[in-house]
Amino acid sequence: MHSIPRRLLSLVTSALALAATSALFAQTPKKLVVGFSQIGAESGWRTANTDSIKAEAAKRGIDLKFADAQQKQENQIKALRSFIAQGVDVIAFSPVVETGWEPVLREIKAAGIPVVLSDRAVKVSDPSLFVTIIGSDFVEEGRRAGEWLARKTGGKAVIAELVGTPGSAPAIDRKKGFEEALAKNPGMKIVKSQSGNFTRAEGKQVMEAFLKAPDAKDITALFAHNDDMALGAIQAIEEAGLKPGKDIVIVSIDGVKGAFEAMVAGKLNCTVECNPQIGPQLFDLIEKVAAGQKVPARVAVKEGVFDETQAAAELPHRTY
Ligand code: AHR
Repeated sequence: MHSIPRRLLSLVTSALALAATSALFAQTPKKLVVGFSQIGAESGWRTANTDSIKAEAAKRGIDLKFADAQQKQENQIKALRSFIAQGVDVIAFSPVVETGWEPVLREIKAAGIPVVLSDRAVKVSDPSLFVTIIGSDFVEEGRRAGEWLARKTGGKAVIAELVGTPGSAPAIDRKKGFEEALAKNPGMKIVKSQSGNFTRAEGKQVMEAFLKAPDAKDITALFAHNDDMALGAIQAIEEAGLKPGKDIVIVSIDGVKGAFEAMVAGKLNCTVECNPQIGPQLFDLIEKVAAGQKVPARVAVKEGVFDETQAAAELPHRTY
């Protein structure tokens, strides 16, 4: 029997080794690397949103580069540039305000990195600067708050409004939706309107100022663009010797646990849900975008409206 020449044997051995190594690599696909720039931790909603995003990334084995911008657009822009430098596969972010993103979005596009917007929208002249957005319909949320207040007050209310972060999509859109509802109810008018920046501390401060104004006793209702500002305002109302939820009817947006507790205590009247737990839907989109699959231009989040009559039954089911 002929023996196999040495050179041929060594070639066969190397080929087998190479095949085995590539098979091994084929079994361990490269981790998806995602850069996420979060607005901050301004509200209970935001914290729940961050938790949902981090938990889902961990569950899927995604390498998440997470940056907290402490509510500053310049910090978000810095984070986005650092994601370009790190060569991430996909960039996702929740823009603190709507405008001012074009230059950095162009840089991201030039680097060939797809962008997915989470929660809030941007205003850009070129729609190809991002692939898709997942988020709530903020106009509808404002409309629901206004319609609920109209039903509760029989269409008669002198309203103080705590506005969200100036220039942010939820502040602009919730105001628009609320005012649409008011337009159908001539007996309802906004007499005070100021930003509380979506935080409890500023919501309290602004409400204190509202209550010190000479016409303060005319106020019969409060519309807060989020629950945190409403909870701050409730403190201010109590400190002014009034009964929140009774002397002043309060409707806000988000549906965080604290809002349900306040409703059960009779201090808040209604919260319009804005669901922060969008991690699973967000990463479904991101994975499709990374794989070059087609995705819808906008993905909406399903939400409800809860008032004081449903609060006690719903409270045990609230997960944020
Ligand atoms: O963009 C969603 C809004 O941002 C939430 O209503 C608010 O609580 C948060 O800070």
